[in-house]
Amino acid sequence: MGRRENLLHEMGFTPLWVDRTRLAALQEQAALEAQTPAERSAQVASTTQPQQIDQVREHIAPLAAVVTEHAPASAETPAARPAPSIPIAIPGTAPAGRERTPAPVEAPAEDARSLDIGQMDWSALQQSVAGCTACGLCQGRTNTVYGVGNPNADIMVIGEAPGQQEDLQGEPFVGAAGQLLDNMLKAIGEKRGERVYIANVLKCRPPNNRNPQPDEVAQCSPYLRRQVALVKPKVIFAVGRFAIQTLLQTDAPVSALRGKLHHYQGVPVVVSYHPAYLLRNLPDKAKAWRDLLLLKSVESEAGDKPG
Ligand code: URA
Repeated sequence: MGRRENLLHEMGFTPLWVDRTRLAALQEQAALEAQTPAERSAQVASTTQPQQIDQVREHIAPLAAVVTEHAPASAETPAARPAPSIPIAIPGTAPAGRERTPAPVEAPAEDARSLDIGQMDWSALQQSVAGCTACGLCQGRTNTVYGVGNPNADIMVIGEAPGQQEDLQGEPFVGAAGQLLDNMLKAIGEKRGERVYIANVLKCRPPNNRNPQPDEVAQCSPYLRRQVALVKPKVIFAVGRFAIQTLLQTDAPVSALRGKLHHYQGVPVVVSYHPAYLLRNLPDKAKAWRDLLLLKSVESEAGDKPG
């Protein structure tokens, strides 16, 4: 088996690749015909052969310069976040009959909590997540699912929320989707726990795997933000509509966001389909493979992490 076949096999693509090569080519052709020239040039990765990771870098490198309108580099750093809007009474300007002395300025509780979380070190953060009761999900959980892997990882994978197996084991992506994720990482020479860290937007399982609610995301987001700040990955691999839309603060579909470089807290973000989705939609695995090549290329181009 050649290198390309090996990689595809590791990723679980072999049957698809062998049986559906022609189908994939036709779909590719149709998709290309439907694209605008700008979209086409942004998908240089789609023209590369899987076995040519090194040459692919040359072609994909210009993509690293493609900064989309979503979340510019510093937009989400704590320092760059707009200060909470706190009304301050200025003596002499209050309408007649109103209190003229400024009320003590106190940050709203939620912001104080975010600021507090934003200062935590790794172990304080982990403990805070383990004891979190900030939203109703704490009532139904077996375990919180903090994250797993190298806390100094180069690549950070971010998914949606724990499912049943993750809730039971306290580790992200351990079910069927997790096995596919492991194979996807293996296909680009990466492994959970080595140069990779895996986390979710939510740390507790939503009942019956329902979609996360806005208040749950709001309460949990400071944890993920702090995890990203502490890991300082070279690149984030955001999988699935929910994680992508939450990180990039957009409601654009995954299909419109793939093949471009985005940013979260100044960290480059490559997006792709959720492994659970790929298990049900085999033809899209070929697109996921291209996303992985882009991920690998961005990671390589980033050079060494500052010590
Ligand atoms: N899906 C996710 O998004 N995360 C997990 O941890 C498991 C399944």
